[in-house]
Amino acid sequence: MVDQLWWKTGVIYQIYPRSFKDTTGIGIGDLLGIIDSLDYLNNGTPGSLGIDAIWLSPVYPSPQVDFGYDVSDYCDIDPIFGNLEIFARLVDEAHKRGIRIIMDLVFNHTSDRHPWFRESRSELQNSKRDWYIWHAGKKGKPPNNWGSYFGGSAWQWDEITGQYYLAMFTSQQPDLNWRNPAVKQALFNVMRFWLDRGVDGFRLDVYNQYFKDVRFRSNPRKLNPLGFIYSFWGQEHIYDRDQPEMYEVLSDMRKLVDAYPERMMIGETADEDDYTKALDYYGRQNDGLHLAFNFDFLKSKWQPAYFRLAIRKWEENLPDWGWPAYVLSNHDVTRHFSRYNRGRQGLPRAKIAAAMQLTLRGTPTLYYGEEIGQAEVKLTRKQILDPPGKRYWPFYQGRDGCRAPMQWDNSPQAGFSSTGSWLPVNPDYRFKNVAVQQNDPASLLTFYQRLIALRKKTAALQIGNLILIDNNHKRILAYRRQIEDRKILVILNFSRRPQTLDLKADNSLYVLLGTHRNDTSILTDNQVALAGNEVLIIREGKNAKEENE
Ligand code: NOJ
Repeated sequence: MVDQLWWKTGVIYQIYPRSFKDTTGIGIGDLLGIIDSLDYLNNGTPGSLGIDAIWLSPVYPSPQVDFGYDVSDYCDIDPIFGNLEIFARLVDEAHKRGIRIIMDLVFNHTSDRHPWFRESRSELQNSKRDWYIWHAGKKGKPPNNWGSYFGGSAWQWDEITGQYYLAMFTSQQPDLNWRNPAVKQALFNVMRFWLDRGVDGFRLDVYNQYFKDVRFRSNPRKLNPLGFIYSFWGQEHIYDRDQPEMYEVLSDMRKLVDAYPERMMIGETADEDDYTKALDYYGRQNDGLHLAFNFDFLKSKWQPAYFRLAIRKWEENLPDWGWPAYVLSNHDVTRHFSRYNRGRQGLPRAKIAAAMQLTLRGTPTLYYGEEIGQAEVKLTRKQILDPPGKRYWPFYQGRDGCRAPMQWDNSPQAGFSSTGSWLPVNPDYRFKNVAVQQNDPASLLTFYQRLIALRKKTAALQIGNLILIDNNHKRILAYRRQIEDRKILVILNFSRRPQTLDLKADNSLYVLLGTHRNDTSILTDNQVALAGNEVLIIREGKNAKEENE
């Protein structure tokens, strides 16, 4: 197979550790549970999912106010998840199976329990004072209008020294001061700590927020109805993120990471609506992030036009060294199975979404459970409102509906835990779980396995270029992936009704994988007639059947 960078050709799988598999019986998933599940993720046979890398949401010691996105020690493992010795075992066992490990670096802020912040807040003269962003305020008020993602002002009054500190998320997540070289040094040492332990990459949490305006200017207001709910959404974020100093830091991080072989960084851009900026995150001279998530699909309605627009934005604007990275679900948003589950179309649409995600040009990131079509879990009001890390974002429901335990089988707690679970298991686990889908050739899980296997052996799908076909079709999303003379056609019918697509192809068309017809059939007609919700992945060529992938 082509010798290419794993983070371009591979498939990333995000695990939210507290929800994956509990081996200690405390109702919270742990690292041993992940080790136990590695063969499910990739044991080298077609019966496993076949993913190439695991992105672990944070497993560092943390008060868990924002479930690990509030880190109190960057160089250890929270005892609820394991310890450094178990972590080493995880890296080792994953590597034996060809699975890479990506750690989540939460470097915009720490927990307020982090020793750095404890020191920083203790007195004005403390040597760590300048590790965070403190301000005396103006006339008894916060220094500017910056808002927190979770509501209210981003400035928190601290009685101890009578100043405000900045916290863009919860008040227990004070923002670090990246303008202080000592902070940069300390965080770069954290990166080395994990690279030296064999991790293969980092996911950078809200990296475009590291720097804020040096003069603390207020953001201009923006007309947005959500701004009435809280100020954050009613502002143009000109001064509280995307400052030019960030590019220099990204480039220094890149040098650090590239000094280790085959490592990578993938960035979570906070609200990347401005593409001109987003594309710079890759660095003007290939010296920024290796990858930046493209989140447009999270907002795409179930119509080809929305997806096409998102794809075109990357395809047309990325620099030569850029590489797309599409996301359909993650731990912050409603799972896409539920987003698209209108009129009981959840399952066929999940198959279409999977086929798209796994055949586009770019690195796909899957979210645990999406391969079996896990849906949102309904939470009671009490569960939604507590603790604050979950409150208000995105608005009333909180974010935990997408974080329910992985559904392994139909035993109590869905095989996630022997006792209970920190969030209710979705009651549909009785019929929707890994065990029932594993050996069902028509299941979503089997479809994911086959898609990933096909991608793995097909150079055009891994690294070929992408050309959209019939850009105006209202119901069909179609594109060609091509490397040299090897061509793959992907045709996705977003409608539940039959549709036709004129291919204008003078080559033979050989079905490699699909949802409605035999995988070995040959299409003869230039007008492809698709059944409702049909997925078709076709090899195209003079003699498509015999050609080598
Ligand atoms: C983005 C993460 O994805 C989210 O879960 C978290 O709450 C914030 N960053 C703060 O770290």
